[in-house]
Amino acid sequence: MQSLLNKKIVLGISGGIAAYKTPELARQLIQEGATVQVVMTQAATQFVTPVTMQALTGNPVFTSQWDSSVSNNMAHIELSRSADAIVIAPASADLMAKLSLGLADDLLSTLCLARDCPLLLAPAMNKQMWEHAATQRSVERLNKDRVTLLGPASGFQACGEVGMGRMLEPFEITEQVIAFFQKKPLIGKKVLITAGPTFEPIDPVRGITNLSSGKMGYALARAAHAAGAEVTLVSGPTALPIPYGIKIVSVITARDMYDAVMAHIAHQDIFIAVAAVADWRVSEVSQQKIKKQNATSPELQFEQNPDILAAVAALPKPPYCVGFAAESENLLEHGAAKREKKRIPLLVGNIGHQTFGKDDNELVLFDANGHKNIARASKAILAGKLIEEIAHRL
Ligand code: CTP
Repeated sequence: MQSLLNKKIVLGISGGIAAYKTPELARQLIQEGATVQVVMTQAATQFVTPVTMQALTGNPVFTSQWDSSVSNNMAHIELSRSADAIVIAPASADLMAKLSLGLADDLLSTLCLARDCPLLLAPAMNKQMWEHAATQRSVERLNKDRVTLLGPASGFQACGEVGMGRMLEPFEITEQVIAFFQKKPLIGKKVLITAGPTFEPIDPVRGITNLSSGKMGYALARAAHAAGAEVTLVSGPTALPIPYGIKIVSVITARDMYDAVMAHIAHQDIFIAVAAVADWRVSEVSQQKIKKQNATSPELQFEQNPDILAAVAALPKPPYCVGFAAESENLLEHGAAKREKKRIPLLVGNIGHQTFGKDDNELVLFDANGHKNIARASKAILAGKLIEEIAHRL
């Protein structure tokens, strides 16, 4: 299932160089199942053409309030009435000032004033413009009017300067739009998640690790954030982009992961251990690369790594603990036994162990009442369902 299925979004584009990213945003919103209707200001058409937006969305693009093709010639009323939200990206300083004052001198500002649906703005402007007292007054007024601001972010700007005012990336805006529509059962809750593999060095160029792409843990971090939680993600080495709005702590070894988890565990409401932690580490890591010497192979001694999940579950006041089970056989038997051994309320098993790196999966949940399956779906959907299950049990 797509996260924006059946949602009608009016995508407003105002005049700013960040408009070059809006076609990609439209594509992503559509990929999530939304129907996208684009409305552009005249200035926006200087940066991206209506033809591009029409080709991507499959819908005619509106740029003027004097468009005779709308049935009763009331495009501003018509467009906002049927929408679930208006998302404007980029929202220029000029447009934000207009909207904060209730001005309506073109189609986009008019339909914002005439709307009866939520309005989300992704500001984009030069840092001086963002910091200007006039823009900050607009922000204050828009906040009071319950307009949702997505960003801006800080970073390199098209004008060559570095600072606040950069538009969020299209994938970040899409995620925030998805989060906006989702239920927020974890508002006010803190969630700590481990994800990815750990890597245990043998020498400076070699090591042992477990199979794990990190996709499930990262999807859970996103889903928990979308459900309103404050999320910290302790991640082993992965190739995944850092999810928006989430605090990330990068680690390499199981002991690093243990230390990072213990450093952040106080005041957490939920701990979800998704990481494929290496159970053993090499006792003596060679400081130099081990060279091949004739035909003899090196003999490695191992010692056990700390069990992070069991250690958290054994704390005097543990958060609600959720574990994952990587089993290659007898999942139902091993899963139930593992949940009891780790003394945790909920354990999640992967049905079939060949899920590493894949985008979908099928899960089985073990709790004190027995077990229950969650049908095959993308990891993003499963993560959303799992967060709902956890929130429900809390
Ligand atoms: N886990 C952990 N720290 C470890 C090992 C595992 O926090 N040192 C967590 C995993 O993140 C997962 C759960 O414990 O949530 C189960 O991991 P798994 O590898 O399936 O089980 P093990 O406890 O290692 O048991 P075994 O390898 O014997 O199946």
